[in-house]
Amino acid sequence: MPCFFVYSLLVFLSFYPPPGATSSFTPQQEEQIERLQRYLRIRTAHPDPDYAAAADFLLEEARSIGLHALAIEFVPGKPLLLISWPGSDPSLPSLLLNSHIDSVPAEPSRWLHPPFAAIRDAAGRIFARGAQDDKSIAVQYLEALRNLKAAGFVPARSVHISLVPDEEIGGADGAARFVASEQFRALNVGFVLDEGQASPTDEFRVFYADRSPWSLIVRAVGAPGHGSRMFDGGAMENLMDCVQAIARFRESQFDQVKSGSKAASEVISVNPVYMKAGTPSPTGFVMNMQPSEAEVGFDVRLPPTTDLSVLKRRIDEEWAPNIKNMTYQLILKGPIRDNKGRPLVTPTDESNPWWSAFKQAVLASGGKLAKPEILSSTTDARFMRQMGIPSLGFSPMANTPILLHDHNEFLMDSVFLKGIKVYEHVISALSSLPETSA
Ligand SMILES: *[C@@H]1O[C@H](CO)[C@@H](O)[C@H](O)[C@H]1NC(C)=O
Ligand SMILES: [Zn+2]
Repeated sequence: MPCFFVYSLLVFLSFYPPPGATSSFTPQQEEQIERLQRYLRIRTAHPDPDYAAAADFLLEEARSIGLHALAIEFVPGKPLLLISWPGSDPSLPSLLLNSHIDSVPAEPSRWLHPPFAAIRDAAGRIFARGAQDDKSIAVQYLEALRNLKAAGFVPARSVHISLVPDEEIGGADGAARFVASEQFRALNVGFVLDEGQASPTDEFRVFYADRSPWSLIVRAVGAPGHGSRMFDGGAMENLMDCVQAIARFRESQFDQVKSGSKAASEVISVNPVYMKAGTPSPTGFVMNMQPSEAEVGFDVRLPPTTDLSVLKRRIDEEWAPNIKNMTYQLILKGPIRDNKGRPLVTPTDESNPWWSAFKQAVLASGGKLAKPEILSSTTDARFMRQMGIPSLGFSPMANTPILLHDHNEFLMDSVFLKGIKVYEHVISALSSLPETSA
């Protein structure tokens, strides 16, 4: 199966893009591509991201554009970079563009090209860990500002770029600290753009909410007994009831996805991630004994509109009832409501002037937008939404296979350059949004 997968990926890649694609860029565009490659070559993958080298590079880039830039260390060794272009009316709420510096690890042996070499092949594909997720957007933000500044554009609202550590490991020392800081409050942020995902079609994807990540741990106890005996009230038997109840629920959710009535990100996912039970023996486990304790863990993802009290009642009554000797922990891994108790959802209709301006700007750049989606996983945008700030996930990568966290992550040079143009439209429109409307 993995071999087949790798093989089919190689076949896919060898035909992607179609032969005959040409590339002829201006010297300025070639320089922009080189700057992307330089950033991609800095090893910011976990478990040991080189934040210092990334900070040096990004601060130097920002200063070369004439932007104000500083590094804040909420946690020693984990710099968060704040780059600012003051608007002509700094009293207006500002625009914040966010990107994380870190990336997930890579297995070099499974890649066509070394994952930190940022090799650009004849077809224009730039292979690197972080090419899609999400180091490209940091460079695109900067290059869009460089172009706008060179063209004499002056934003009315201040434009800020935050380049944050640790998104891939939960953001506790990154975006979570940032939004809670005095520095963040002082930015008076009115709207945030954060990372999105590649789109295999010619329509850009845009995300208005993330699912909220939870962990569910169920522990069962019961009478121990000989492996041969049938009896009620064993720990394993109780836990199997739990697993069956959850499996039925999981199926009811998955069926809605398979039938097409809901997107995967619009249902509650509950997936088992570990089981712990049994009595160890020198050769494995004692096989003729039913244990008195057993435990199972689930990854749970909740769409932003989930009624938590309904879910908790379901767990209390059906999944882990106390009368069956079960106890559970439901652990919140990310916010589900903002600081005013509202679901973490950014409106994507005319009620939100930021959305209208964003949408028009993307269309004006020649891009197309797919129907707004909820992201199945999470991004740092959840921390901004938690502060009550409207935030969209958007990475302008159309006609691009979705390769985040995958082997052979790449971005086409032409897609990267097109994205800079899209951001120029979006940033100029959003930073010009008049006071009355937002
Ligand atoms: C609960 O556990 C106790 C022992 O730990 C056992 O005697 C009893 O039968 C169990 N009850 C149920 C409903 O599992
Ligand atoms: Zn990311």
